[in-house]
Amino acid sequence: MKIIPEHIVEKITLVQKKPLKVFEIMIGMLFIRNWEKIKDENVIIFNETVRDEVLRIYNENFTEIYEERFLKYAQYFNNISYVYRDEEGVKGYCFFFSKPLFSSGGMKKLCTVYSFAVDNKCRRQGIGEKLLQKGIREMELNGIDTVILYVEVNNESAIKLYRKVGFKTIGEVRDICSPGDRCFEMALDISKDTEVAAAISKPSREWLDK
Ligand SMILES: CC(C)(COP(=O)(O)OP(=O)(O)OC[C@H]1O[C@@H](n2cnc3c(N)ncnc32)[C@H](O)[C@@H]1OP(=O)(O)O)[C@@H](O)C(=O)NCCC(=O)NCCS
Repeated sequence: MKIIPEHIVEKITLVQKKPLKVFEIMIGMLFIRNWEKIKDENVIIFNETVRDEVLRIYNENFTEIYEERFLKYAQYFNNISYVYRDEEGVKGYCFFFSKPLFSSGGMKKLCTVYSFAVDNKCRRQGIGEKLLQKGIREMELNGIDTVILYVEVNNESAIKLYRKVGFKTIGEVRDICSPGDRCFEMALDISKDTEVAAAISKPSREWLDK
């Protein structure tokens, strides 16, 4: 059994336990195929040269580890897998996947933050916010309707950051990140389409409950 040190207990995983379905992956990949990027010298997309450092940060920060899926999604959704790197090395990452959301108004484009961490030594320097904002700005540019994420209710630093960039809590769910956990479901509605906001919780929960 893995003994979890006290200081890591509050660090939770955003990688949801249930994998995406194949058709969701296929449609999600289509959404980001001709993705328009915003240039930034420090925020790059995931690639082999940063793989080991990203995995180190992932393993140091989370207790539920799904390394194979983590790497697969970073490959499938490469255009929306952001890594912060400067002359000192890799300092953090924010990975999203995209998938369709079916509502009465038709199919909408949804992106989900599935893993996000900044190296412990580099916190409170604006790196997390920069990674998240870069993703959101590109999502606005590329016609994504909504961004969602799940965060454990006691992860105050992350919740503050999400609120700061505009996420709103839309629900509370259990057993998403790890067994017995309580997570807020938070959303940032880019399209300002009220119908999308109303439709998010239901399908994402149906998907997670399977
Ligand atoms: C959440 C996390 C990614 C934030 O990264 P970071 O680079 O330290 O965050 P930033 O420096 O960009 O902070 C931006 C804002 O977030 C909030 N924030 C971040 N860390 C905070 C802390 N320890 N206490 C209070 N607010 C905090 C503040 O509002 C801050 O804005 P401010 O500096 O103007 O006050 C980082 O703490 C982390 O990796 N945590 C462990 C993994 C994790 O919990 N990931 C999220 C899973 S849902």
